[in-house]
Amino acid sequence: MNNIKVSPSIFAANFLDIRKEIENLENLGVDYIHYDIMDNHFVPNISFGPLITKQIAQSTTIPGDVHLMIDLSKKSVEPFLVIDNVEIVTVHLEANGFSREILDFVKSSGKKVGISIKPGTAPEKIKDFLDLVDLVLVMTVEPGFSGQKFLTQSIEKVGIVKEILKSYKRDIYLEVDGGINLENIKLLIDKGANLFVIGSFFFSNNNGRKILEYLSKLKYSSL
Ligand code: DX5
Ligand code: ZN
Repeated sequence: MNNIKVSPSIFAANFLDIRKEIENLENLGVDYIHYDIMDNHFVPNISFGPLITKQIAQSTTIPGDVHLMIDLSKKSVEPFLVIDNVEIVTVHLEANGFSREILDFVKSSGKKVGISIKPGTAPEKIKDFLDLVDLVLVMTVEPGFSGQKFLTQSIEKVGIVKEILKSYKRDIYLEVDGGINLENIKLLIDKGANLFVIGSFFFSNNNGRKILEYLSKLKYSSL
């Protein structure tokens, strides 16, 4: 319980006021900024690319957590590996071009490497890569858009992934992403998730503060 981390998805922030949004994240003391990268091919949407990621990542001390929802090649991934202050780069197991070589390529840049699975992908598929990865990202909505409804069947899936991770000696983050809010976060914590991407909920109605207060209370009560 002590190690729950929060990674707000900047894709859901107000881009007209991005500096203020970043300052707010700094004041709140979030652990990461999550960058959702979409190429209109792996997912049916376009977000932003390495240039904007770099501008934001280098304007803050908050480390970057890059979620690549793109077809994979050394060429498509490399621009994110050279951004200072990006700590984690996560790729999708289902993406065109996915391979151990791509995971190795990320890892050898010095970044942490993550592997992500979509809601329809069986948890067992990650097993072949757990010797390499630092993080597993379980999508709790279909990737592509902020503001979707949380898929409740993900709760059980997160538990299954946690069981798989337990048999590995190394610490591997278990990240969840999509539709996370104050109603479902505790259920996911109880199943073993420890890194929470939160988009539209976080950036509306002062909910970011509420989430962080809630987590610090939980932490306090479990001490
Ligand atoms: C979905 C993205 C998510 C999303 C999170 O493709 O990976 O990071 O933007 O936003 P919410 O929390 O609104 O689902
Ligand atoms: Zn994401």
